[in-house]
Amino acid sequence: MSGERTVLSATSSDVQNQASKPALKPMLAALAGEVRQQPPFWLMRQAGRYLPEYRELRAKAGSFLDLCYNPDFAVEVTLQPLRRYGMDAAILFSDILVVPHALGQPLAYLEGEGPKLDPVRSVEDLKRLSRDRFHEMLAPVYETVRRLSTAIPAGTTLIGFAGAPWTIACYMVEGAGSKEYAHVKRWAYGDPVGFGQLIDLIVEVTADYLCRQIEAGAETVQLFDSWAGVLPVAEFRRWVIEPTRRIVALVKAKHPDTPVIGFPRGAGHAYEEYVAGSGVDAVGLDTTVPPVWAAQTLQPRLPVQGNLDPIMLAAGGKALETATHDILTALSGGPFVFNLGHGVIQSTPPAHVEALTRILRDWQG
Ligand code: CP3
Repeated sequence: MSGERTVLSATSSDVQNQASKPALKPMLAALAGEVRQQPPFWLMRQAGRYLPEYRELRAKAGSFLDLCYNPDFAVEVTLQPLRRYGMDAAILFSDILVVPHALGQPLAYLEGEGPKLDPVRSVEDLKRLSRDRFHEMLAPVYETVRRLSTAIPAGTTLIGFAGAPWTIACYMVEGAGSKEYAHVKRWAYGDPVGFGQLIDLIVEVTADYLCRQIEAGAETVQLFDSWAGVLPVAEFRRWVIEPTRRIVALVKAKHPDTPVIGFPRGAGHAYEEYVAGSGVDAVGLDTTVPPVWAAQTLQPRLPVQGNLDPIMLAAGGKALETATHDILTALSGGPFVFNLGHGVIQSTPPAHVEALTRILRDWQG
């Protein structure tokens, strides 16, 4: 049903076009709106602790931040999943929290506990942050992107990324992951002007950070808004859609042809408004978004990416195959990048990722 929609059959005019203009890489073609008979794929957190070679290098590097800030290590870790599975995209190995770290906020990753930051909870606390050393601290990240742009296989797309302002603010204000997000919500709701100063700062440095990644060789960038789903709709507009729209506009002013992917995890009924209001070129679907709904409602407006439950990948077997086929059936008739609905979890057997790769590469539209 989907195979005949567009593109992949090479007519003589396609061939002529290709002669004057090289064909886009599969992931970039999908982001440009092409319907691919075999959707390109990559996986959020495709590099990480589920891979033994990652754990080995991580032990050698010492701390997680040493891994992020050492281009030799970061390049190697980025390439590890590509060697095994040949995804269509490589995502820069780093973390969203290097941005607050580069603003001078102390950051540590404690074994088994996740990230810890010295919280900022008032306008007064913002004085402890500074942009002075921002790009200097992130220079190793730009170097990693530069090296990756020549190290990745031809046909593989290089993805840069950053956290979206709301999610970054969640970590900066709470000082860690949280169940309730009470501190950050109380500040945002009770003192929107003061909290807005923090968001403005994050918007400006993040746009700059993404532009530098693009200038170093990133071909597309993704904004991770992992905690977009905890806000009521009016606050979602103000702290998710609006700051994202400003970042997209700032990035587009310098790099109009670089696609921006937004991932407003948990946005639920607000996905449509996010797509209409943020200006992103493609949208990442979390695990809970019904693929058939996304195909009818979102995909006519823009390419979508997602959304296999990472726990389905960890479970494997027949359920993995059925769930993957369901997503492909629903979404591969429009512009689509296959991915998970959130990151690969640590207990995922590498063999299950191999099985998923086979299912995707065997898919016949
Ligand atoms: O996707 C990739 O392969 C690229 C690398 C990447 C990491 N983190 C590596 C990482 C990316 C894109 C991220 C994004 C990120 N980081 C997000 C947004 C996506 C999401 O998961 O919601 C968030 C919220 C963070 C913040 C963060 N970093 C947390 C909460 C943790 C601890 C949880 C955990 O899994 O340990 C991290 C650490 C982290 N970031 C690890 C990796 C591989 C594990 C660190 C280790 O090796 O000990």
